[in-house]
Amino acid sequence: MCGIVGYIGNKPVYDILITGLKKLEYRGYDSAGVMIYDKSLLIKKSKGKVADLESLFVNDQDKKGSIGMGHTRWATHGAPNQINSHPHVSNSGEISLVHNGIIENYHSLKSVLLKKGYVFKSDTDSEVLVNLIEDIKKTKKIKLGKATYFALKQVVGAYAIAVFDSTNPTEIITAKLGSPLAIGVGESEYYIGSDPSPFLEFTKRCIYLNDNEMAIINLKKGLTLRDIKKDSIIDPFIEELKHDIEEVEKGGYDHFMLKEIFEQPKSIKDTFRGRLLSPSLPIKISSIEMHFDKFRSANRIIFISCGTSWHASLLAEYYFEELIRIPVKVEYASEFRYRNPVINKGDIVIPVSQSGETADTLAAIKMAKEKGAFLYGICNVVGSTIARETDTGVYTHAGSEIGVASTKAFSCQISLLLLMALDIGKRLGRIEEIRYQKIIKELAAIPKTIESVLSKSKHIEDISENFLEASNFIYLGRGYHFPIALEGALKLKEISYIHAEGYPAAEMKHGPIALIDKYMPVVIIATNKSNYHKVVSNIMEIKARGGRIIAIVSSGDTEVKKLAEYTIEIPNCDELIAPILANIPLQLLSYYIANKKGCNIDQPRNLAKSVTVE
Ligand code: F6R
Repeated sequence: MCGIVGYIGNKPVYDILITGLKKLEYRGYDSAGVMIYDKSLLIKKSKGKVADLESLFVNDQDKKGSIGMGHTRWATHGAPNQINSHPHVSNSGEISLVHNGIIENYHSLKSVLLKKGYVFKSDTDSEVLVNLIEDIKKTKKIKLGKATYFALKQVVGAYAIAVFDSTNPTEIITAKLGSPLAIGVGESEYYIGSDPSPFLEFTKRCIYLNDNEMAIINLKKGLTLRDIKKDSIIDPFIEELKHDIEEVEKGGYDHFMLKEIFEQPKSIKDTFRGRLLSPSLPIKISSIEMHFDKFRSANRIIFISCGTSWHASLLAEYYFEELIRIPVKVEYASEFRYRNPVINKGDIVIPVSQSGETADTLAAIKMAKEKGAFLYGICNVVGSTIARETDTGVYTHAGSEIGVASTKAFSCQISLLLLMALDIGKRLGRIEEIRYQKIIKELAAIPKTIESVLSKSKHIEDISENFLEASNFIYLGRGYHFPIALEGALKLKEISYIHAEGYPAAEMKHGPIALIDKYMPVVIIATNKSNYHKVVSNIMEIKARGGRIIAIVSSGDTEVKKLAEYTIEIPNCDELIAPILANIPLQLLSYYIANKKGCNIDQPRNLAKSVTVE
């Protein structure tokens, strides 16, 4: 969480910092602040959004300067107020710092500094770090780079930092451990960002810092990269980014979330590009091809992930066990990392993550690695830490997802997971050819089929009008639709703040049915395959107790239509394809309810896009 930006060069820095911070607001929006240097140090910070920070700049004089750093915060240590906002400044007023991450041992570092007479204004761990750097710099009489290096050697935790010393105002020091940091390389200028979005419009040449790396960016001497552990200089690897700038703009939609929902046909096409060339040709996922021996001999596959990615993993359990016949386990990364799971050689661990930066998933990866598992990562963000920490893997290629609530990334994850299950199952000879052909044809057509579901958006918007006063929702699904029910409930609660729970439909009678009355809307996925009649019975049970039913049904359904208050049709399809389609109306329903309630769709309260803290 938290986003950091920076610039050192010859351009006016103010606009670069402000527009950059706005692009990173998805990482946190509790407060924002900037440091600009123009003969003297100017720090401005504000509780709230970047727009609140902007309103503090009434004087154009303050916007001058061509070196600066900025921060948008997702609060961890200390309340989201002005004092706890970054940049933090050392006691002498000379050194300023922006930080994304958590310094876990800040208490002990702080007590040593307190004894030395340091004074702290904020409750943050970051203010401890900037003063530790200052203390080392002054006692050892060394430069900022060396002092930062020694300070980081004492730090336990995670960080992406940018540090500036106004006594040597031609240099910014950056370093990374656990939290992401990208450096944009221009002509005699450098940009800093938690991801490349703040500098994509200026340069596509990017250096992703690896863990334990530090970059000393000097206006005159250029960039020097150091390995903090080995204390040695390394050659920077400059990547040419292929990101499209339009991807990070709203493109005429009111919200990124809506844009991303409507982008799903294209995103899934991108997921399949080069992999599913035609239903008659073999699936081509090079990392599976190269490591097929691992899948052939696997005793077990364990998925580790969080939130929406965990729901995708849960659906993968159904897909993999059905089509590959290898036992699958799905774990919350946050639980997995703190218990003592049995992992044997021959187990494949598959972390699934949109951002590729989720702290719990990363920690679980490290643990699985130590226990000898083979790690196959599924990530969306290219070059992310999870992509680099795994043995091999595959990108979802959903494109940049800016809306905090995940939509297109999830659809791409589940489409890719089904493609993988088909590929591995076919190679192992565990799927009947006729079945394989049927599913693969429908999967290849899914971008088009999703378009037809999206064309029902007006109908879904009309339904949403009737539920703006609801304070609870239940989502039900059986089999392949159970993970979709969980995901539907999560989407609604995240963006509309309406309490919602997802259950397997048959679990209703074991407790949740007590909640049903005329005030309880129940969204139930009732498409026409194997469990259809059992779901119809569940609908009757709800109806008998006065619950209000919104049902997702297969086109042409007549039975459920007689029972439900509202129905939304999806095309007839194989039961393995149906969850991918059924999820789309649930995304739209959440979106329209939240929008009509006036909620902040793209930046829901208390959330951040990339959860890089525990
Ligand atoms: C919900 C959502 C979160 C993320 C979770 C994991 O809409 O986006 O639940 O799915 O924080 O994030 P990633 O997939 O980046 O590891």
